[in-house]
Amino acid sequence: MDFDLLCELAVATAREAGAMLAGERSARGPDVVQTKSSPTDIVTQMDQAAERLILDRIRAVRPDDGFLGEEGGAHEGSTGVRWVIDPIDGTVNYLYDLPDWAVSIAAQIDGETVAGAIDIPRRGETYTAVRGQGARLHTVTTAGPSRTPETRTPRVSTGVPLNAALVGTGFGYAAERRAHQARVLTGVLPRVRDIRRSGSCCVDLCSLAAGRLDAYYERGVQEWDIAAGTLIVEEAGGRVGGLHGAPPGPDLTIAAAPELFEALHDLLAPLDPARD
Ligand code: IPD
Ligand code: CA
Ligand code: CA
Repeated sequence: MDFDLLCELAVATAREAGAMLAGERSARGPDVVQTKSSPTDIVTQMDQAAERLILDRIRAVRPDDGFLGEEGGAHEGSTGVRWVIDPIDGTVNYLYDLPDWAVSIAAQIDGETVAGAIDIPRRGETYTAVRGQGARLHTVTTAGPSRTPETRTPRVSTGVPLNAALVGTGFGYAAERRAHQARVLTGVLPRVRDIRRSGSCCVDLCSLAAGRLDAYYERGVQEWDIAAGTLIVEEAGGRVGGLHGAPPGPDLTIAAAPELFEALHDLLAPLDPARD
């Protein structure tokens, strides 16, 4: 299996969906068509349109692959390749026209992510990674009339002690979960440089990969939130995991350079961050 080809399809599709979402967001914002786990957990018609576009593009090239899309459920497939898709990560930001929202597409083989792309249209950035081949950050700078594409190799910051770390996090949609997340935060905030809450797990993981955050943790993120971002962070030199050696996932996801991962893990563990 050629991982590069999977990555190319992920990149082209994430960019097309990102461009569609940026271009077609009406001035008054998209309509909320559904709520999920709580009244603040929203789906817009644009989440659904973006997922349809992504699935159409992938199926046109690879009709027998499986997929897991946040808005469309799961399909098994017969090739061993499964696409894990968050059509808009940061839907609330998209609704409010804040810039931190992203399209995330990961390709997995037998459960392991081998290629991924996260497009952040309002930042003009696309992050990509192929397992074993490193991560890339593609930017389009629009200085004056020219659009200059650039590619660089993002790296997770190293050598940052916990008390100097800028830490990204996020909050779930359920009130009870948020109340405990706030209690955990009171144990973290006095021990680190500061906290950031971008509103997009994918943007947080890309920011970490690019050295714009030093660490990230969150309870409640799903496979579609973290599949591509985990590979991007790992290929940029970071470690992504859960509590006490568990894999990253809904219970807890922690990401940082390896030595800072340990320090943040040991700060979080006694705060009981994996319960509501
Ligand atoms: C959400 C964002 C947010 C995180 C939530 C996610 P959505 O994804 O990633 O930053 O805190 O846990 O559910 O709902 O915008 O796709
Ligand atoms: Ca998401
Ligand atoms: Ca989403």
